[in-house]
Amino acid sequence: MIIDGKKVAAELRGELKKKVTELKSTYGEAPGLTVILVGEDPPSKIYVKNKEKSATEVGINSVVIKYPENVEEKIVLNKIKELNNDNKVSGILVQLPLPKHIDKRKVIETILPSKDVDGFHPMNVGNLSSGYDSSIPCTPLGCYLLIKKVKKNLSGKHAVIIGRSNLNGKPMTQLLLKENCTVTITHSKTKDLKVECSRADIIVAAVGRPKLVKGGWVKKGAIVIDVGINKTDSGLVGDVDFDEVYKVAKAITPVPGGVGPMTIACLLNNTVECFKKAQFN
Ligand code: GUN
Repeated sequence: MIIDGKKVAAELRGELKKKVTELKSTYGEAPGLTVILVGEDPPSKIYVKNKEKSATEVGINSVVIKYPENVEEKIVLNKIKELNNDNKVSGILVQLPLPKHIDKRKVIETILPSKDVDGFHPMNVGNLSSGYDSSIPCTPLGCYLLIKKVKKNLSGKHAVIIGRSNLNGKPMTQLLLKENCTVTITHSKTKDLKVECSRADIIVAAVGRPKLVKGGWVKKGAIVIDVGINKTDSGLVGDVDFDEVYKVAKAITPVPGGVGPMTIACLLNNTVECFKKAQFN
């Protein structure tokens, strides 16, 4: 089975559109998402454009603030503080990567945790790892929802995560632990990745190495989620060798059309969640 991330994301956006309409009629205003983009990184420009378009489509008030590559750090930090105090702004996202002269950590920690739609603030990271309510990073949340589409009860399953990033691997671990999975996190220093993968009921690959995961590494009937987006001479490919793994997996996400569309849908979901929580404060 190929997991159709485009379809699942479209369903989620449809549900969110209805929710936004209801929220607007209850509270008199729609959730607002403000994205800050610094510089001219081409993939970032595309991501931000797609985020803006999708947000507008579901009725979220979407604003993009652009700064030149050489903007002073304090201008960005002051803008975030202004947005923190603006009731019309439910969620704030600063697109990464940032230029080297801007301290990513300072930027993330300046965003109010209750408006942190990325779930990158240490308060949200800590809450997620303690099993408390938190914003959940969009890409692992998207992966999680796709896994749950294939299998509702994950208790006791062995999940192998390839990549230990703050963006994906670590939050993915927390989400699967909450589902009572046994989780192995692998990374560049892991001794035998093939052996680790061959024990997995669920594989989540997020390392940025084209076609790293081979058919012979995957147990028959495993669920394989491919977060990789690698540009190669033969086009966009994931971290999984799709043609090989498709033959042994129970379910696999394609690249493109798998995890990618879910990431943006989850961002919209997080924006709506932040708006809803703000109404009770
Ligand atoms: N750059 C690549 N992915 C992401 C993401 O999920 N959030 C932000 N803020 N920047 C990114």
